[in-house]
Parts: sequence; C-alpha cells; structure tokens
Amino acid sequence: MAESIKILTDKIGIEGIENFDVYRKNGGYKAVEKAIKKMSPDEVLDEVKKSGVRGRGGAGFPMGMKWGFLAKPEGVPRYLVCNADESEPGTFKDHYLMKSNPHLLIEGMIISSFTLGANTSFIYVRGELMYVIYILEKAIAEAKKAGFLGKNILGSGYDLQLVVQPGGGAYICGEETALLESLEGKRGNPRNKPPFPAVKGLYQCPTVVNNVESISTTPWIVLNGGESYSKIGLGRSTGTKLISASGHINNPGVYEIELGLPVEEFIYSDDYLGGIRPGHELKAVVAGGSSVPILPAALILKTADGNSRLMSYESLSEGGFQSGTMLGSGGFIAMDETTCIVRNTWNFARFYHHESCGQCSPCREGTGWMDKVLYRIEHGLGNERDIDLLVDVAKRIEGNTICPLGDAAAWPVASAIRHFRDEFEWHIKYPNEAIKYQAVYKGDMIKV
Ligand SMILES: Cc1cc2nc3c(=O)[nH]c(=O)nc-3n(C[C@H](O)[C@H](O)[C@H](O)COP(=O)(O)O)c2cc1C
Repeated sequence: MAESIKILTDKIGIEGIENFDVYRKNGGYKAVEKAIKKMSPDEVLDEVKKSGVRGRGGAGFPMGMKWGFLAKPEGVPRYLVCNADESEPGTFKDHYLMKSNPHLLIEGMIISSFTLGANTSFIYVRGELMYVIYILEKAIAEAKKAGFLGKNILGSGYDLQLVVQPGGGAYICGEETALLESLEGKRGNPRNKPPFPAVKGLYQCPTVVNNVESISTTPWIVLNGGESYSKIGLGRSTGTKLISASGHINNPGVYEIELGLPVEEFIYSDDYLGGIRPGHELKAVVAGGSSVPILPAALILKTADGNSRLMSYESLSEGGFQSGTMLGSGGFIAMDETTCIVRNTWNFARFYHHESCGQCSPCREGTGWMDKVLYRIEHGLGNERDIDLLVDVAKRIEGNTICPLGDAAAWPVASAIRHFRDEFEWHIKYPNEAIKYQAVYKGDMIKV
C-alpha cells in the first residue's frame, strides 16, 4: 500500500515536538507568518473554502461555508471557539492530537481567529483532561513569548488572546450551543436554533465553533493551498481524517487516513488495524462514534449494492439508514463474534440516558425508557412486545428534540434492532440462558 499523506500527524513522534523551539525548527508557525504577513483574512477564507474541508466534530459541515456565514456587525466582537470536549464513546483523536502536538492546534487557532476577525478565542477542553489543559497552557505561554499571540502579533497590528477553558464534565457540553452556555458559566443546556451561533453565539455575539481536528487542518491549507488539499481524499470527502480505532482489533489507536480508503483495507491491513484478534471474526462495526448506526460485518465491508465500502462521508452513508451509517466523529469500534449486541446497545442507551440534559421530554423520557427496556431484555426479563416498543420509542425521539443528542440516542437502538433483531428475540425467548451464561447469540436459537 502506498504511504498515505499525513497532514495532522506528520510531526508526531519528533522528540520534544510539544516544545515551541522544536516545533518551530520543524516548520511550525510558518503558516501563521504566511497568513498574517502575506495574506488578507479573505484570502485565507478563500483557501479554506477551496479545500472543501468538512467539520470533523461529527456533522461534516463545510468549514469554509460556516466561516462565510459569520455575521460581521460594526463594533461587535466575534469569537472563535474550539470544541475540544470530545466525550463521544469511541472517539479519542482530539485528545491524542492535543497532547502529542499542542502547537498545531494553537497555530490553527491563530490562523482561524485572524481569518474570522476574532481577538479573543477559546479552547473548551473536556474537563477530565486536566493534563492536556496544562500542556496547552504551556504551549500558549511559549507562543505568546515568541510573539505569535498577544498584542500586535508579528508587528501586524492584529491582537489575539487565547483562553483554555476546562469543560463542564458532561457529554452534552460538546453540543455547540450547550458548550457556549457552559462557557458563559451556565448549565450546559442546548439553545434553540435559530439564531445560529454565527449570528448570536458566545455572549450573543457572532461565533464560530469548530472541532480541534478541523482547526488543525488550517496550517497545512495555508502553506499548501486549498486546491492541493481538495485533491487529497475522494470527491466531497476531501483531505485526511483522524480515526480513533478500538475494540477487537489487533492494532487499536489513532490513525490518520486519506478519505476514500476501503474499509476492508483499513480493518485488515497491517498498516492500519491489523485485522481482528486471532481466532475471531468481525461481527459488527460502529464506524463513527457511539451515535451512528451500527452495521453488521457484511454491510460495513460492502454496501447493499455490492460496492466496496469506503472510509468517506458519502460511501459510509450509502444506503441511508436501511443499510448504511455515518463517518461521524471517526470513532471506529470493531466487535467480534463474542460481543453481545443487546448488552452493547443497552450500554450505549445507559450512556445517553445519563447524559440527556432533560430539557426535551422525548429525549429525557425516551432515553430512560430505552435504558429500562434494554436492561430487562439483557437480564432475561423482556417480553415479546419490548422490541417493537423500543423501535417506537426511538422513532418518537428522533427529530423531536432541540439538539441532536436525541437522534444520537435513538439511532444505535433502532439500527441494532434493524440488523440484529434475531439476537434480541433470542434474549427474550431464552431468558435463562441469557442471564446464566451472559451468553452471546451465535445465530442458533437453541444452543447457548
Ligand atoms: C451531544 C453532542 C455532543 C457533541 N460533542 C462534540 C464534541 O465533543 N466535539 C466536537 O467537535 N463536536 C461535538 N458535537 C458537534 C458540535 O455540536 C458541532 O457540530 C461541532 O463542534 C462543530 O465543529 P466542526 O464543524 O468543526 O465539526 C456534539 C454534538 C452533540 C449533539
């Protein structure tokens, strides 16, 4: 396999890269110099638009287009907020990027803030990651000392203060408007939209919220041009993507892949996940973090039409929710045949029940019901109506909440039943086996 291009992780592994001097010696902050000294904010924006880079936090919204929506009323400050809350089960790439190469994000923050005309920008970091917060704060102090942050950056007249804020300790604080509430010191409850943050965001001022990985692409785009970026990847899935890989694979970890890589190659090649652990076989995959639909092995490797499934926004969603899934935040969880899908679905449902903020009744009540019903199926107390009840509850949540946490809770349950219904039925039909052996369904209704 050809060595794939590295845009975000190329410097990771260089001894001492977390220190300003080493980062600088290895080409760091050249993109800031180019953007601030040689380009106008509109020129940088043009390059980001040309790159086609899409937000890496989950929704995949084009970053240049989002930046273009930012309102610019006279005399009102604008803000850039980096979403580093990363609490989605299965996703740990932002954590890896920040701790391994903190200056890349800071460089990206300076370029992005300059482009958007923000003079104060925030990095909202998952509160549990205090050590990463210290790493970022040290890096910010170094960059400031070298003249890349603070007043009159590189003599350009442009000022930027960068603030690191520990997160509120809840998954919902990663939803962009809940994050803004939390950043303002309030309980992290999502806001009704519109108005969108681009018009009324932090302190009711125009705000852009972007993921760590999205912002970290900007130094490369500035140095190499948006067009070069757009040539990497496949179709509208331009560039590279960080994938957090976990589960029953031989090589778990964070991978930077070129979008468009065949899923089969990603799972089985020794350059990536190295296949499923010895003596076992792939049963199912959650491709984009716990929120996206689970797919059985056959459908993650090939689409329902028999095409090779690729690691791209479009290919992973081919077939819609009937037979497809989503790239999401790139949390790739591979499960072998020892995995109980009912238990796994209950585990996810428990998480969403715990993390629902409680504002919207369908989510507050529905996540609780799904948790309870899945608990009883898994523990041998289910009845025949429970499966349809779960499908019904999931349907009533989907699309009926202020923020997408409701959808994120409904999709894993609905998809698990869609693809593994016989496994749920088995748990209900043979409750004693399910309890006694914590058994895993093997496609045979009689044997445990
Ligand atoms: C419940 C919930 C949690 C989220 N958590 C995160 C997160 O931890 N990090 C993130 O970047 N986006 C998260 N998002 C998506 C953000 O709302 C938002 O779309 C994203 O930060 C925008 O950045 P991007 O355009 O660069 O992807 C979450 C969304 C929801 C509904």
